[in-house]
Amino acid sequence: MNLRITCIPGDGIGPEIVAEAKKVLNKVAVKYNHTIEYTDILMGGASIDVYGVPLTEEAVKTAKDADAVLMGSIGGDTSTSPWYQLPPNLRPEAGLLAIRKALNLFANLRPAILYDELAQACPLKPEIIKDGFDMMIMRELTGGLYFGERKTVVENGVRKAIDTLTYDENEIRRIAIKGFDIAMKRGKKVTSVDKANVLDSSRLWRTVVNEVAKDYPEITVEHMLVDNCAMQLVKNPAQFDVVLTENMFGDILSDEASMITGSIGMLASASLNDTKFGLYEPSHGSAPDIAGKDIANPIATVLSAAMMLRYSFDLDKEAETIENAVKQVLKDGYRTGDIMSEGCKKVGCSQMGNLLEQYVMI
Ligand code: IPM
Ligand code: MG
Repeated sequence: MNLRITCIPGDGIGPEIVAEAKKVLNKVAVKYNHTIEYTDILMGGASIDVYGVPLTEEAVKTAKDADAVLMGSIGGDTSTSPWYQLPPNLRPEAGLLAIRKALNLFANLRPAILYDELAQACPLKPEIIKDGFDMMIMRELTGGLYFGERKTVVENGVRKAIDTLTYDENEIRRIAIKGFDIAMKRGKKVTSVDKANVLDSSRLWRTVVNEVAKDYPEITVEHMLVDNCAMQLVKNPAQFDVVLTENMFGDILSDEASMITGSIGMLASASLNDTKFGLYEPSHGSAPDIAGKDIANPIATVLSAAMMLRYSFDLDKEAETIENAVKQVLKDGYRTGDIMSEGCKKVGCSQMGNLLEQYVMI
């Protein structure tokens, strides 16, 4: 199979981690007789530096022409980087929001898994984590507050900022269907998270989720208020299978979920549209403080590449090969600095990539 992949190395540690993911993908291609055509585009700060904008139309076109997009990370240090002196719509993050919208990537899948080998890094007590947890946060990604109208005005000499939160039933239904479909392949439980005791958008969310649920009699559905969910995540994370929620709640809860795995450097993500097309990126940010030092953890990006093989190319065996390589590397005691623990062997970003390259060939 020929895989046409657009890469967005991005900013900070992005270029380093994408380079390692490419190494691993190339080995998988050799092993299973595939060919890969890469095209690179600029986004975020890297694009601002060259074009003055965080995403160009040409870049969007290149991404659209590919089968899938693999991204590193974008953004810089908000207190020191000149990118943050620009108006908000020209800052790095605006590029990410724009590409999500332009490619209609409404379904964001963020798995939060506690790896046995890394259980020591989990900040929760052993009696809470017991046998570990494995949840999938499904975040709606192109609606809600992040895409509503916003403005700042002065009224009677008082500054006032307005953000609007809108969801229509179609936007809710399509993410709910994706969430239920994914739950069917996992633990067959959906926890829909909202703030239906206050917000109209949440009440509609709940109604539409219940309508969709009727088509999935095998699935257990529960509704949870977002503040309670934030609490339950640290009280009993194993209760969750698929967590289905709107854009802002998903942004916040997915950071919390990743933190309790103790290894945000390990967590992949996929952003999908209605077709097989998707954008795959690690759940962590651009970590400008460690950029260029060859110490970043490339595993989340490597695992994002595995998600890409599975969801965009239906190459399950190839995806598993990468996932098994990651597990084996951890079993054999190799760790980057962020997940280092006593008795393990510390390696840098490119060394970790080299090891994974070797392990996929075994
Ligand atoms: C994320 C990030 C982005 C978001 C930012 C950078 C716009 O926090 O992917 O979670 O909020 O969606
Ligand atoms: Mg976020």
